Amino acid sequence: MECSLVVIKPDGTIRRTVGALVLKDFMERGFHVKAFKEMKVSESLAKLHYDVHKEKPFFPWLVQFISSARVLAMILEADDVIKGVRDALGATFVQKAAPDSLRGKYGIWSGINIAHASDGPETAATETSLWTKEGGLEESEDAEKAANAYVERYAPSNMDLTKEIRDLVESSIDVNDTSSAVLESLEDLFGRDSEDVDEGEIKALALAVFDFIKEEVEKKE
Ligand code: RTP
Ligand code: MG
Repeated sequence: MECSLVVIKPDGTIRRTVGALVLKDFMERGFHVKAFKEMKVSESLAKLHYDVHKEKPFFPWLVQFISSARVLAMILEADDVIKGVRDALGATFVQKAAPDSLRGKYGIWSGINIAHASDGPETAATETSLWTKEGGLEESEDAEKAANAYVERYAPSNMDLTKEIRDLVESSIDVNDTSSAVLESLEDLFGRDSEDVDEGEIKALALAVFDFIKEEVEKKE
């Protein structure tokens, strides 16, 4: 049996229904949930988690994005689960992900892509130990039950605003719109299915997405 460290990122978690549907999909594939925690990622954990990318130009944004608002961190176990989760997610960049993959269905744009998943047995071991030590993620007999309860609570509302958010991001980049109206629309859309999430987190996630739009627009200029 193999394990993978999987994190449903803020763009999946704040949208409660989307997060629940992604989690449901994993469980329906027979991946056993060994640890499950809804948590806010500290800046230090974010930096350690993305340490391999620390020289890349997008590193500061990655840290900002994953620590903007709560995530669902989990350890999944099954035969060949590392490949299984990555296949289920689809390609890293949303616009390249197959339409029936999880990123194809729920991803927003580019690297705003719903979830992180370990990419090999060694990374899985390092990441599991990191999230245990620095993030307080713990294996527990009740993890599967907690994950099921999450799905039962949030999946049925059927609210999926992926298309609206995607259209907003894509069209803002297209027409170079970095006005405050875009930020306000992002806050509104991210807030619509965000039961029990603090307003500060919704605003921080909206700002991370808005900063991404600004960077894309600047790149063109
Ligand atoms: P992940 O680590 O999130 O499971 O995704 P991955 O293995 O498919 O992709 P990786 O290369 O490890 O990149 C980690 C995350 O960084 C963002 N990214 N942005 N702007 C860019 O060129 C760029 N490249 C990567 C994505 O959020 C990606 O998931
Ligand atoms: Mg990766």
